[in-house]
Amino acid sequence: MPYTPADNRYDTMVYRRCGRSGLKLPALSLGLWHNFGHDTPHDTKRAICQTAFDAGITHFDLANNYGPPPGSAEEAFGEILRTDFAGYRDELIISSKAGYMMWPGPYGELGSRKYLMSSCDQSLKRMGLDYVDIFYSHRFDPETPLEETMQALHDIVRSGKALYAGISSYNAQRTKEAVAILTDLGTPMLIHQPSYNMLNRWVEEDGLKETLTDLGVGSIAFTPLAQGMLTGKYLNGIPEGSRATQGKSLNADLINDDTIGKLNKLNDIAAARGQTLAQMAIAWVLRNGGITTALIGASKPSQVTDCIGAIDNLDFTAEELAAIDQWTDAGDINLWAKSSNS
Ligand SMILES: NC(=O)c1ccc[n+]([C@@H]2O[C@H](COP(=O)([O-])OP(=O)(O)OC[C@H]3O[C@@H](n4cnc5c(N)ncnc54)[C@H](OP(=O)(O)O)[C@@H]3O)[C@@H](O)[C@H]2O)c1
Repeated sequence: MPYTPADNRYDTMVYRRCGRSGLKLPALSLGLWHNFGHDTPHDTKRAICQTAFDAGITHFDLANNYGPPPGSAEEAFGEILRTDFAGYRDELIISSKAGYMMWPGPYGELGSRKYLMSSCDQSLKRMGLDYVDIFYSHRFDPETPLEETMQALHDIVRSGKALYAGISSYNAQRTKEAVAILTDLGTPMLIHQPSYNMLNRWVEEDGLKETLTDLGVGSIAFTPLAQGMLTGKYLNGIPEGSRATQGKSLNADLINDDTIGKLNKLNDIAAARGQTLAQMAIAWVLRNGGITTALIGASKPSQVTDCIGAIDNLDFTAEELAAIDQWTDAGDINLWAKSSNS
């Protein structure tokens, strides 16, 4: 079926300035980490992207390794760009990243210039693009001089292969160092992409959230739903087909009786606010403007629609925030701590 974007796609979405840059991002962005590999029908991928764009989600987040197999999410999105979004490139913010294992040998991961430059070229080819809007260093590399990684980002921007530079899962101290290097080179750091949700608050503990505000760098919080834990899905246990049953990134052991009890308490607070748990989780990440955009994933279009409902109520009372704080300890769910601890 040919697709024409909804005429009213910009009527209700909220757009927020990304740090001190000129770029505004939608309050919700869509990530293609899961559900865009060969394990998902292409029509489902198209429907998810179409639903997002129809509702004003202009930002699509990818990385070299998203799949399975690695690279296939970028290929699928490249196809969607050709069939559905052709003619709309200037309305889209498309990002990619390099940092995790992508090809064998010493040049297929981490933060060397060799890896970042080649990976960016590969991502552009897979998506059929001349440039991405944002290119990220996907994780901190303790063995490569930070100057080399930042110089590579700067050169990628200077070459026109990306419009802006970003980093992901760097801690507050490394972020300050990275921003200083990039600023000296003449490329402002646009954005930081950390994990952040009600059950994973390391960006508050580490001081990263405050640091980003001080530095004028924007932020995009990934896994705002804790990979689905912060939705109605797991309130009565683990349903068939959910991410926790797939043996991928969400460890089913985390969804034990104790956690399920806490999720139900959070769900009660959401219901009292007139929201689904997913909507409250997204609104919580976005509260007080501290985070620019919430980067969700979805396995079906209806989830995107549910999540977008968050923007109807982004404010919290002090009582609501205090009530939420009682139920936010759910064990070790931060899979990305290794990068931010380096
Ligand atoms: N920079 C990094 O290192 C990094 C790491 C991870 C992710 N990311 C980015 O962040 C994006 C989002 O990550 P994520 O997919 O883990 O985020 P998430 O939004 O926390 O979880 C998404 C999952 O939650 C479930 N879900 C979503 N909306 C729902 C709803 N309304 N009702 C019920 N269930 C719902 C779906 O799982 P089911 O499959 O169970 O339906 C969906 O796949 C990624 O695509 C990627 O772009 C970046």
